[in-house]
Amino acid sequence: MTQPFLHTPVLQQEAIRLLTEEGGTHFLDGTLGGGGDTEEILKGDETREVIGIDRDYTALDAASERLAPFGNRFHPWHGTFSHLEEAIQDTGWTTLDGILLDIGVSSPQIDTPERGFSFRFDAPLDMRMDTSGGDPTAADLLNTLPQKELADIFWTYGEERFSRPIAKAIVERRETNPWETTTELAALLERIVGRSHQHGLPPATRVFQALRIAVNHELDELEAALKAAERVLSPGGRLVVISFHSLEDRIVKHYLQHAAQTCICPPALPCTCNKKVTFEILTKKPCTASAEELKKNSRSACAKLRAAKRTNEPPEFTRQY
Ligand SMILES: C[S@@+](CC[C@H](N)C(=O)[O-])C[C@H]1O[C@@H](n2cnc3c(N)ncnc32)[C@H](O)[C@@H]1O
Ligand SMILES: [Zn+2]
Repeated sequence: MTQPFLHTPVLQQEAIRLLTEEGGTHFLDGTLGGGGDTEEILKGDETREVIGIDRDYTALDAASERLAPFGNRFHPWHGTFSHLEEAIQDTGWTTLDGILLDIGVSSPQIDTPERGFSFRFDAPLDMRMDTSGGDPTAADLLNTLPQKELADIFWTYGEERFSRPIAKAIVERRETNPWETTTELAALLERIVGRSHQHGLPPATRVFQALRIAVNHELDELEAALKAAERVLSPGGRLVVISFHSLEDRIVKHYLQHAAQTCICPPALPCTCNKKVTFEILTKKPCTASAEELKKNSRSACAKLRAAKRTNEPPEFTRQY
C-alpha cells in the first residue's frame, strides 16, 4: 500500500467540463499528481481512456493504486509532459481528444520535508520533482552556477528585488562552505530580505519559487507542451491549462492569443501572412476559484484556468523529434 496522497484538485469541475463537453475518448492528463482529475475523467464515461503523465514516481504510484479499478482504461507514463508525444506513441495512439495540464507542485511534494521544496522545514535543498535521475538539485545550482546566472534566476523567476546581493552572498559563502539545507538558505534570505519585503510574504518565498522553477525547467516544459498539444490534438480537441503564477499564465495566454490570431501583418499593410488559426479560445478571461472553493482550499487563490479548442488547420510547430 503506497502512502495516502493528499492533494485537493483545483478548479476541477470547470476543468473537466471544458475538457470533455464535446465528447471524445482519448485524453491525456500531463500532471497526474494524486489522480483526482484523471479519476473524474474516467468516471464520467466508460468509453474514455486516459494517459496519466507524472515525472514524480511517488505521484505515479499513488495514482496507479487509486485508478486500478479502471483497469486498462488508465495508462500511467513516467516522464515530463514536454514529451507527451512519446507517451502517446508508447500507448499506441496517434491523436488526442483532450489534454489537461494542472501545473506546478502538488501538496504532498510541498509538505514532505525531505523533498526540500519548503522553507518551513529543515531539509536538504533538493526541489526536484523527479528524484529518480541524476538531475541537478537546488543545492547543485547554488554551488555551481555563476553569480550572474543565479541573480537572473532570482529576478526572472521570482521577481526578487534583492536578487543581486543574494546571489553575491551565496557565491561568497560557497567558497568555504557549500550550500546544503533549506534552513541555511532561509536564514540568509531573512538577513538580506528581512522585513523590507513586499506584500508581507515570508522573505524566502520568492527565491524558493525561483529555484524550484529553475531546477525543474518549469517554463520550458510548459512552452514545449503547448506546441506539442497543437500537433497531437484532433480537430475539436480541447486543451485546458491551470497555472499558479503569473509567469506561467502569461506563457499560456500569449501562446493561445497567437494561435487564435487570424493575421499577424503590421496593421497598416494588406494581409500577406496567411496565418492559420490553430486554436479557438474558450475562456476570454481565465477562470478563477469561487469564494466557496477558496474557503475550502487556499491553494486555489492563485489558480487561473485557460481553455481552447483545436481547429482543423495544420500545426504551426513541426515535430521536434
Ligand atoms: C498540481 S499537481 C497535479 C494534481 C492533479 N491534477 C490531481 O488531481 O491530483 C502537479 C503534478 O504534476 C507533476 N508535474 C509538474 N510538472 C511536470 C512536468 N513538466 N512533467 C510531468 N509532470 C509534472 C508534479 O510532479 C505533480 O505531481
Ligand atoms: Zn496577415
